[in-house]
Amino acid sequence: MLLPRKQPEANESLGCFQRMADTMHILQLGDTHWATSRIAPGIDSMARFEQVCRWIGSISDPIDWIVHTGDWVHRGHLATDSGDSTRAAWNRLAEIGIPIVTAIGNHDHREALSQCFRKHWPDDRELHCIETQSDRLAYWFTNDTRSDRGESLLVLDTRGATQIDPQGEICDDQLAAIETLLADPMRRWTIFLHYPPIALDCDWIDRTMLVRNGMLLHSLFAKNSCRIRGVFFGHIHRPLCCVKDSVLYASTGSATMHFPNMPRDNQALAQCDPIAFANYISISQSGTLVKTQWTMLSQ
Ligand SMILES: [Fe+2]
Repeated sequence: MLLPRKQPEANESLGCFQRMADTMHILQLGDTHWATSRIAPGIDSMARFEQVCRWIGSISDPIDWIVHTGDWVHRGHLATDSGDSTRAAWNRLAEIGIPIVTAIGNHDHREALSQCFRKHWPDDRELHCIETQSDRLAYWFTNDTRSDRGESLLVLDTRGATQIDPQGEICDDQLAAIETLLADPMRRWTIFLHYPPIALDCDWIDRTMLVRNGMLLHSLFAKNSCRIRGVFFGHIHRPLCCVKDSVLYASTGSATMHFPNMPRDNQALAQCDPIAFANYISISQSGTLVKTQWTMLSQ
């Protein structure tokens, strides 16, 4: 059941930033790793997810889209997974009543997640799917229901073969589509994917967690940087931001568990601190604002 949410007044002001009525607001979360049993000592991801959903539902500021950048569930990619965890997590987040956009993470059940996404897609939005030979969930759409141009969201599926997990890979079909889309002078793009495309100055992340051919992706982004609002990802379970060749990259922290990211950190030691992160992203002609938010969890 969709719950009614308070809508912002059209003439509310954001000070020097673009007026709220002209601003797209996105709540990005990721790496929730929902599971019915503890995924690590001290981490009950199902209980944490419930608290995160209540927190998001309590936000009275405008949110046009909730974007989950992948790893909804824990080990949902395994052949033994039924997809029930994915459906349970999706349905709980959907109760908030805000349209959900999703990227595919390395732990996700791609088929179940794709079905949830398509089933709940708003009727008034045209969804443009990017055709790929490997049946990936890649798509784009525009934020304005009255126009097929302007502010647009592009979601990429960079999960490659399970043999390279936890690295990602962008396929040629998506690269070709991206090159065409980003060249359109009438659109501005906010881009989401699970894996970071560029190196992040951390030993274990740069060795094991990136899009393996991510520099191909970055070169397309850099070539069209004037039309890109930002590139947002998850997977590293920590919030960070950087600019490379005039392209803004930002990650969301996990809503469940955290990984180290300093230069000499050489392995993914899960940290169970009871805190959940999300990014509140504002997009307008004035630019891009990323406000990292967090909430304390009871367990
Ligand atoms: Fe993750």
